[in-house]
Amino acid sequence: MNLADSEIVGSILTKAGYALIRNIDEADFILINTCAIRDNAEQRIRKRLRELRALQRQRTWVKIGILGCMAERLKTQLMEEEENVSFIVGPDAYRQLPDMLHHVNDGERMAETLLSDTETYADIEPIRYDTNGITAYISIMRGCQNYCAYCVVPYTRGRERSRNPETIVNEARSLFEKGFREVTLLGQNVNSYRWHDPAGDVGFPQLMAMVAQVNPLLRVRFATSHPKDLSDELLQVMADYDNICKCIHLPVQSGSERILKLMNRRYTPEWYLDRINAIRRYLPTCSITTDVIAGFCTETEEDHQATLDMFRRVRYDYAYMFKFSMRPNTYAEKHLQDDIPDDVKTRRLEEIIALQGEIALENNQKEVGKTFEVLVEGVSHRSDQQLFGRNSQNKVIVFDRGDIQPGQYVNVRVTRCTAATLIGELAN
Ligand code: 5AD
Ligand code: SF4
Repeated sequence: MNLADSEIVGSILTKAGYALIRNIDEADFILINTCAIRDNAEQRIRKRLRELRALQRQRTWVKIGILGCMAERLKTQLMEEEENVSFIVGPDAYRQLPDMLHHVNDGERMAETLLSDTETYADIEPIRYDTNGITAYISIMRGCQNYCAYCVVPYTRGRERSRNPETIVNEARSLFEKGFREVTLLGQNVNSYRWHDPAGDVGFPQLMAMVAQVNPLLRVRFATSHPKDLSDELLQVMADYDNICKCIHLPVQSGSERILKLMNRRYTPEWYLDRINAIRRYLPTCSITTDVIAGFCTETEEDHQATLDMFRRVRYDYAYMFKFSMRPNTYAEKHLQDDIPDDVKTRRLEEIIALQGEIALENNQKEVGKTFEVLVEGVSHRSDQQLFGRNSQNKVIVFDRGDIQPGQYVNVRVTRCTAATLIGELAN
């Protein structure tokens, strides 16, 4: 999400005559795009700002700006606390950046943090930087109004709004023509994508079909789905198109019915497992990944065991696992207590991580001997004699390079694995 936003900012500023540079020592403006989802994300930014003071002593004219969710959350308070920050820009105010940089250059300090009900940056073609030239993100909607009790996003990114589907399809087509072979459609809750049109509304399943039709050689992925909205209609569309990747990220957050209710997730473990069964029914080869939070307010050992049980039942291929971090202004902060001691949170998180490690390894071991179509993304980090790519299930596969080029599709037979990677050989 933040990378996609930075690409929009890059585009707005390049159009205004600014240039992106590789080396920070040559910068006149430093823009830091930030996340506010957990406290440690914000602490990292504070540390970075301290480190940048040395650079500013050398280059006294350099101006630093904070963009994104942390800017939105703290607004001018951040400028009061961090004296080397000259400008603050919330996620819906990026179009004002060129103007702001003018004023900031003249010595002003400024903050623009108004949220919008309509801004989607639909007309802006993002600048793809730091790109492998093969995979890209397309933002299809912004904001979230699910108000999960622990989550700061509805407050930092504002109300949900969807982007005109035509502009999404055009962006996908333009990427394909430039040689890209995979797009990931992004939103906080893609299932509630909806574009109102007199000729007929476009929902997320229709949008997926439209993007899949751009070209059969263009892979389509998406993130993130809220389990409460994952429809059979979407699963059917995923089954209908070979180039829609068979991988679903379905954040569970907890396996306990009581905790899910407290989190305002609006599904029960039974409902969630029913959705998992639906995925297995429509898409037998689909991989499933998740997010989970350990140590939410009032979580008992029994609740924690229910989460471990959920992991054993679903057998995720991958999970992003977090310790609960109390965030200002959320429902949890106003009405609940962060009452699980840190060492207990850590121990529970470690138990989830250990279990997930075993499951991921076992899942991967089942892939040994199978052949997958792999989109080659680049040279392996370990050896320049090897390439890596992903299969439809989003699993990384490493193999000896031969005379294959990044961007090609190849068939690879899996010969070995670790918990994180499949290792194979060319099968064509
Ligand atoms: N503490 C810990 N994890 C959180 N997430 C969101 N808010 C918090 C929080 N306050 C996690 C959720 C979400 C992912 C993006 O970040 O698991 O799905
Ligand atoms: Fe946060 Fe919940 Fe919205 Fe995801 S769905 S961004 S966890 S409020």
